[in-house]
Amino acid sequence: MPTILHIDASVRDVLNASSKHGSISKKIALNFTNRWRTHRPTDEYIYRDIGQNPPAFITQEWIAAVFTADEKKTDKQKQILALSDSLIAELTIADIIVISSPMYNYGMPAQLKAWFDQIVRINKTFDFDLARGDFPLQPLLSGKTLIAITSCGEFGFEKGGIRESANHLLPHLRTLSKYLGADTMYEIISEFQEFADERHKKSVANALRQAENLAAELALRVTETGT
Ligand SMILES: Cc1cc2nc3c(=O)[nH]c(=O)nc-3n(C[C@H](O)[C@H](O)[C@H](O)COP(=O)(O)O)c2cc1C
Repeated sequence: MPTILHIDASVRDVLNASSKHGSISKKIALNFTNRWRTHRPTDEYIYRDIGQNPPAFITQEWIAAVFTADEKKTDKQKQILALSDSLIAELTIADIIVISSPMYNYGMPAQLKAWFDQIVRINKTFDFDLARGDFPLQPLLSGKTLIAITSCGEFGFEKGGIRESANHLLPHLRTLSKYLGADTMYEIISEFQEFADERHKKSVANALRQAENLAAELALRVTETGT
Protein backbone atom coordinates (compact mmCIF):
# COMPACT_ATOMS: atom_id res chain seq x y z
CA MET A 1 0.00 0.00 0.00
CA PRO A 2 1.68 3.27 -1.01
CA THR A 3 1.72 6.25 1.29
CA ILE A 4 1.10 9.73 -0.11
CA LEU A 5 2.79 12.70 1.54
CA HIS A 6 1.12 15.94 0.48
CA ILE A 7 2.89 19.22 1.31
CA ASP A 8 1.23 22.54 0.43
CA ALA A 9 3.38 25.66 0.69
CA SER A 10 1.16 28.56 -0.38
CA VAL A 11 0.16 30.95 2.40
CA ARG A 12 -3.25 31.20 0.71
CA ASP A 13 -6.24 28.93 1.26
CA VAL A 14 -7.67 27.05 -1.71
CA LEU A 15 -10.77 29.16 -1.26
CA ASN A 16 -9.67 32.58 -0.12
CA ALA A 17 -12.17 34.81 1.65
CA SER A 18 -9.73 37.67 2.15
CA SER A 19 -8.43 38.06 -1.40
CA LYS A 20 -9.74 37.80 -4.92
CA HIS A 21 -7.97 34.55 -5.63
CA GLY A 22 -7.38 31.35 -3.75
CA SER A 23 -4.21 29.30 -3.99
CA ILE A 24 -3.79 27.95 -7.48
CA SER A 25 -0.98 25.55 -6.54
CA LYS A 26 -3.05 24.10 -3.69
CA LYS A 27 -6.04 23.67 -6.00
CA ILE A 28 -3.96 21.76 -8.55
CA ALA A 29 -2.42 19.56 -5.83
CA LEU A 30 -5.90 18.85 -4.50
CA ASN A 31 -6.95 17.74 -7.97
CA PHE A 32 -4.08 15.25 -7.89
CA THR A 33 -4.74 13.87 -4.42
CA ASN A 34 -8.53 13.79 -4.86
CA ARG A 35 -8.18 11.82 -8.05
CA TRP A 36 -5.66 9.47 -6.46
CA ARG A 37 -7.95 8.87 -3.52
CA THR A 38 -10.89 8.17 -5.83
CA HIS A 39 -8.87 5.33 -7.34
CA ARG A 40 -7.15 4.21 -4.13
CA PRO A 41 -9.20 5.34 -1.12
CA THR A 42 -7.42 3.19 1.46
CA ASP A 43 -3.84 4.33 0.81
CA GLU A 44 -2.29 6.18 3.71
CA TYR A 45 -2.43 9.93 3.21
CA ILE A 46 -0.39 12.46 5.20
CA TYR A 47 -1.11 16.16 4.75
CA ARG A 48 0.75 19.27 5.88
CA ASP A 49 -0.17 22.85 5.07
CA ILE A 50 3.24 24.35 5.77
CA GLY A 51 2.21 27.62 4.11
CA GLN A 52 -0.18 28.29 6.97
CA ASN A 53 1.61 26.23 9.65
CA PRO A 54 5.30 26.79 8.86
CA PRO A 55 7.97 24.55 10.35
CA ALA A 56 10.38 26.39 12.68
CA PHE A 57 13.58 27.74 11.20
CA ILE A 58 16.66 25.78 12.18
CA THR A 59 18.95 27.41 14.75
CA GLN A 60 22.50 27.22 16.09
CA GLU A 61 21.21 24.81 18.78
CA TRP A 62 19.49 22.69 16.12
CA ILE A 63 22.76 22.26 14.20
CA ALA A 64 24.64 21.40 17.41
CA ALA A 65 21.98 18.79 18.27
CA VAL A 66 22.20 17.25 14.79
CA PHE A 67 25.95 16.83 15.15
CA THR A 68 25.69 15.29 18.63
CA ALA A 69 25.76 11.47 18.67
CA ASP A 70 22.35 9.97 19.53
CA GLU A 71 23.57 8.43 22.79
CA LYS A 72 24.95 11.81 23.90
CA LYS A 73 21.93 13.92 23.01
CA THR A 74 20.44 15.77 25.98
CA ASP A 75 16.67 15.84 26.55
CA LYS A 76 16.70 19.46 25.36
CA GLN A 77 18.48 18.47 22.14
CA LYS A 78 16.00 15.65 21.56
CA GLN A 79 13.22 18.14 22.01
CA ILE A 80 14.86 20.58 19.56
CA LEU A 81 14.99 17.80 16.96
CA ALA A 82 11.48 16.44 17.62
CA LEU A 83 9.87 18.30 14.70
CA SER A 84 12.67 17.28 12.34
CA ASP A 85 12.28 13.66 13.51
CA SER A 86 8.54 13.69 12.76
CA LEU A 87 8.93 15.35 9.35
CA ILE A 88 11.65 12.85 8.40
CA ALA A 89 9.50 9.93 9.63
CA GLU A 90 6.65 11.09 7.34
CA LEU A 91 9.02 11.44 4.42
CA THR A 92 10.64 8.06 5.02
CA ILE A 93 7.36 6.13 4.80
CA ALA A 94 6.12 8.11 1.79
CA ASP A 95 6.13 6.53 -1.67
CA ILE A 96 4.53 9.46 -3.50
CA ILE A 97 5.40 13.01 -2.46
CA VAL A 98 3.21 15.84 -3.71
CA ILE A 99 4.71 19.29 -3.13
CA SER A 100 2.74 22.31 -4.23
CA SER A 101 4.49 25.65 -4.16
CA PRO A 102 3.94 29.20 -5.29
CA MET A 103 6.83 31.14 -6.76
CA TYR A 104 7.68 33.93 -4.32
CA ASN A 105 10.46 36.31 -5.35
CA TYR A 106 11.59 33.86 -8.02
CA GLY A 107 12.11 30.98 -5.61
CA MET A 108 10.31 28.84 -3.06
CA PRO A 109 8.48 30.37 -0.08
CA ALA A 110 10.51 30.58 3.15
CA GLN A 111 8.04 28.09 4.65
CA LEU A 112 9.01 25.40 2.14
CA LYS A 113 12.72 26.13 2.59
CA ALA A 114 12.19 25.75 6.35
CA TRP A 115 10.61 22.31 5.71
CA PHE A 116 13.60 21.23 3.59
CA ASP A 117 16.05 22.54 6.21
CA GLN A 118 14.30 20.39 8.83
CA ILE A 119 14.47 17.21 6.76
CA VAL A 120 17.73 17.37 4.83
CA ARG A 121 19.71 16.11 7.80
CA ILE A 122 23.02 14.31 8.16
CA ASN A 123 22.80 10.56 8.80
CA LYS A 124 19.02 10.72 8.39
CA THR A 125 18.42 11.75 4.79
CA PHE A 126 22.04 11.99 3.60
CA ASP A 127 25.47 10.97 4.75
CA PHE A 128 28.85 12.60 4.28
CA ASP A 129 32.11 10.89 3.41
CA LEU A 130 35.19 12.64 2.04
CA ALA A 131 36.29 9.29 0.59
CA ARG A 132 33.74 10.10 -2.15
CA GLY A 133 36.02 12.92 -3.35
CA ASP A 134 34.32 16.02 -4.73
CA PHE A 135 30.84 14.65 -4.02
CA PRO A 136 30.93 13.68 -0.34
CA LEU A 137 27.16 14.00 0.23
CA GLN A 138 25.01 11.00 -0.62
CA PRO A 139 21.23 10.79 -0.22
CA LEU A 140 20.07 7.87 1.91
CA LEU A 141 16.45 7.57 0.75
CA SER A 142 15.39 6.28 -2.67
CA GLY A 143 12.57 4.81 -4.70
CA LYS A 144 10.10 7.67 -4.27
CA THR A 145 8.15 9.66 -6.84
CA LEU A 146 7.87 13.44 -6.51
CA ILE A 147 5.10 15.47 -8.08
CA ALA A 148 6.12 19.14 -7.97
CA ILE A 149 3.27 21.55 -8.62
CA THR A 150 4.08 25.24 -9.00
CA SER A 151 2.21 28.44 -9.72
CA CYS A 152 3.71 31.75 -10.77
CA GLY A 153 2.44 35.19 -11.75
CA GLU A 154 4.74 35.72 -14.70
CA PHE A 155 5.75 33.22 -17.40
CA GLY A 156 8.64 31.96 -19.52
CA PHE A 157 10.65 30.28 -16.74
CA GLU A 158 11.14 27.09 -18.77
CA LYS A 159 14.36 26.11 -20.58
CA GLY A 160 14.82 28.63 -23.39
CA GLY A 161 12.03 30.84 -21.98
CA ILE A 162 12.36 34.60 -21.55
CA ARG A 163 12.80 34.30 -17.76
CA GLU A 164 14.76 31.04 -17.61
CA SER A 165 17.62 32.64 -15.65
CA ALA A 166 15.19 33.96 -13.01
CA ASN A 167 13.79 30.53 -12.20
CA HIS A 168 15.08 29.55 -8.78
CA LEU A 169 12.07 27.42 -7.90
CA LEU A 170 11.99 24.27 -10.04
CA PRO A 171 15.78 24.02 -10.43
CA HIS A 172 16.05 24.20 -6.63
CA LEU A 173 13.32 21.56 -6.19
CA ARG A 174 15.07 19.32 -8.73
CA THR A 175 18.33 19.51 -6.78
CA LEU A 176 16.61 18.84 -3.46
CA SER A 177 14.46 16.02 -4.86
CA LYS A 178 17.46 13.67 -4.52
CA TYR A 179 17.52 14.31 -0.77
CA LEU A 180 13.84 13.36 -0.58
CA GLY A 181 14.73 10.04 -2.17
CA ALA A 182 12.84 10.87 -5.37
CA ASP A 183 14.14 8.90 -8.36
CA THR A 184 11.29 10.14 -10.53
CA MET A 185 10.00 13.70 -10.66
CA TYR A 186 6.96 15.08 -12.49
CA GLU A 187 6.44 18.83 -12.86
CA ILE A 188 3.10 20.57 -13.27
CA ILE A 189 3.22 24.32 -13.81
CA SER A 190 0.64 27.09 -13.86
CA GLU A 191 1.72 30.50 -15.14
CA PHE A 192 0.42 34.00 -16.03
CA GLN A 193 -1.53 34.57 -12.77
CA GLU A 194 -0.60 38.27 -12.73
CA PHE A 195 -1.93 38.79 -16.27
CA ALA A 196 -5.36 37.33 -15.41
CA ASP A 197 -6.02 36.76 -19.11
CA GLU A 198 -6.89 33.88 -21.44
CA ARG A 199 -3.32 32.59 -21.21
CA HIS A 200 -3.75 32.29 -17.45
CA LYS A 201 -7.11 30.52 -17.73
CA LYS A 202 -5.64 28.10 -20.23
CA SER A 203 -2.55 27.49 -18.12
CA VAL A 204 -4.56 26.73 -14.96
CA ALA A 205 -7.01 24.47 -16.83
CA ASN A 206 -4.11 22.61 -18.41
CA ALA A 207 -2.35 22.13 -15.05
CA LEU A 208 -5.57 20.94 -13.37
CA ARG A 209 -6.10 18.41 -16.16
CA GLN A 210 -2.46 17.26 -16.05
CA ALA A 211 -2.71 16.69 -12.28
CA GLU A 212 -5.85 14.58 -12.65
CA ASN A 213 -4.47 12.57 -15.54
CA LEU A 214 -1.15 11.93 -13.80
CA ALA A 215 -2.89 10.81 -10.59
CA ALA A 216 -5.11 8.41 -12.56
CA GLU A 217 -2.14 7.05 -14.52
CA LEU A 218 0.09 6.53 -11.46
CA ALA A 219 -2.71 5.10 -9.30
CA LEU A 220 -3.64 2.65 -12.05
CA ARG A 221 -0.01 1.60 -12.39
CA VAL A 222 0.24 0.95 -8.64
CA THR A 223 -2.97 -1.06 -8.72
CA GLU A 224 -1.81 -3.14 -11.67
CA THR A 225 1.87 -3.62 -10.83
CA GLY A 226 2.14 -2.84 -7.11
CA THR A 227 4.82 -0.19 -7.75
C1 LIG B 1 4.87 37.44 -2.00
C2 LIG B 1 4.70 37.09 -3.45
C3 LIG B 1 5.81 37.03 -4.28
C4 LIG B 1 5.64 36.67 -5.62
N1 LIG B 1 6.74 36.62 -6.42
C5 LIG B 1 6.60 36.22 -7.72
C6 LIG B 1 7.73 36.09 -8.57
O1 LIG B 1 8.87 36.32 -8.19
N2 LIG B 1 7.52 35.70 -9.85
C7 LIG B 1 6.29 35.37 -10.33
O2 LIG B 1 6.18 34.98 -11.48
N3 LIG B 1 5.20 35.49 -9.53
C8 LIG B 1 5.33 35.90 -8.25
N4 LIG B 1 4.23 36.00 -7.43
C9 LIG B 1 2.92 35.57 -7.96
C10 LIG B 1 2.61 34.18 -7.45
O3 LIG B 1 3.61 33.27 -7.84
C11 LIG B 1 1.26 33.72 -7.97
O4 LIG B 1 0.26 34.56 -7.42
C12 LIG B 1 0.96 32.28 -7.62
O5 LIG B 1 -0.28 31.93 -8.17
C13 LIG B 1 0.97 32.06 -6.11
O6 LIG B 1 0.67 30.71 -5.80
P1 LIG B 1 -0.73 30.36 -5.12
O7 LIG B 1 -1.80 30.84 -6.07
O8 LIG B 1 -0.72 28.87 -4.98
O9 LIG B 1 -0.80 31.05 -3.79
C14 LIG B 1 4.36 36.38 -6.12
C15 LIG B 1 3.25 36.47 -5.26
C16 LIG B 1 3.41 36.82 -3.95
C17 LIG B 1 2.20 36.88 -3.05
